[in-house]
Amino acid sequence: MNENPVTPLIDRFGRQVTYLRVSVTDRCDFRCQYCMSEDMTFLPRAQILTLEEIQQICQAFVELGVSKIRVTGGEPLVRKGVIGLLQQLGQLDGLDELVMTTNASRLAEMAKDIHAAGVKRINISLDSLKPERFKQITRVGELDKVLAGIHAARQLPFEKIKLNAVILKGRNHDEVGDLVQFAVDQKLDISFIEEMPLGIIDSHQRDEVFYPSDQIKQDIASRFELLSLIESTGGPSVYHRVKETHTRVGFISPHSHNFCASCNRVRLTVEGRLLLCLGNEHSVDLKQVLRRYPGDSDRLKQVIVDAMQIKPEKHEFNLHEQPVIMRHMSATGG
Ligand code: GTP
Ligand code: 5AD
Ligand code: SF4
Repeated sequence: MNENPVTPLIDRFGRQVTYLRVSVTDRCDFRCQYCMSEDMTFLPRAQILTLEEIQQICQAFVELGVSKIRVTGGEPLVRKGVIGLLQQLGQLDGLDELVMTTNASRLAEMAKDIHAAGVKRINISLDSLKPERFKQITRVGELDKVLAGIHAARQLPFEKIKLNAVILKGRNHDEVGDLVQFAVDQKLDISFIEEMPLGIIDSHQRDEVFYPSDQIKQDIASRFELLSLIESTGGPSVYHRVKETHTRVGFISPHSHNFCASCNRVRLTVEGRLLLCLGNEHSVDLKQVLRRYPGDSDRLKQVIVDAMQIKPEKHEFNLHEQPVIMRHMSATGG
């Protein structure tokens, strides 16, 4: 596990943290049913990190050995000035991989600038290929715009474009085969994600729509031959290749296959909270450190190093109870 033993970012379980996921805004132009309730209150500006503060924190992490940063949200492309931030992050010495997760609604206009800033890979959320259903799941999203965004990204030499689909029983589980076919046709990768109980939502009971990865895999196997791959991106996805294609299919299964033992990541919330696990509330307030001791990067780095001591062993998701984790994915850095 210890590829780089000099890094001080090692937790109590010997896991080395090399990956930071940064939520740059809690806002989004979609309202995906599993992610948000219809009526969301977003954070006031003073409460969220400025772009300069985000940059300072990212720089501290890279100096501490982090080699991969994912810019996420909410929808990162709705944050004003995000391209400038990406340009700055793209220049951080020691950062090997600058990557992004987006809903692609604005990608058609912004893909070129994102690529030019140094973003190497993009993950795009796509839960349905049916326009009506897409609108229903996202409550407001236009499938056409997302497809145009995917098209624009494909024209550029990104190292990888991956689709993310959250599969819910009775909502979109009948589309897994078509989504794989779309990924194959477009020469993209695709990951299927089990829904996680983050925050209060009003559209469904999470346990009633749970659709396990093994079932998805079985559904896909009726149309495609999947070959197991041992390679990993260091993330929670377990990958397979669709035989005789460029496409890899990943399964992210927080409920059915726990992957916490190899966790290599922490998250920065939009409020500047360093969150040590997606499924727990253990966190440290970095915004307070930055605002109290401006310019003191050594102090900031020490706080980050110390925070590794409270990284929990594993998440505690339970689909059958009211969520213990009250924050939504959008504020968290999905
Ligand atoms: P990379 O492209 O290498 O980062 O692969 P990945 O499979 O990690 O993909 P991505 O970062 O896009 O993660 C996709 C989804 O996996 C996220 O949106 C989350 O739903 C879920 N996920 C990522 N990291 C974690 C984690 O640490 N814990 C849990 N429970 N879920 C995670
Ligand atoms: N459970 C699982 N995945 C989620 N996402 C958002 N909310 C949830 C949830 N509750 C996914 C989105 C997107 C990524 C950022 O996180 O579909 O692909
Ligand atoms: Fe927006 Fe992504 Fe949440 Fe959908 S899942 S509402 S696109 S942040």
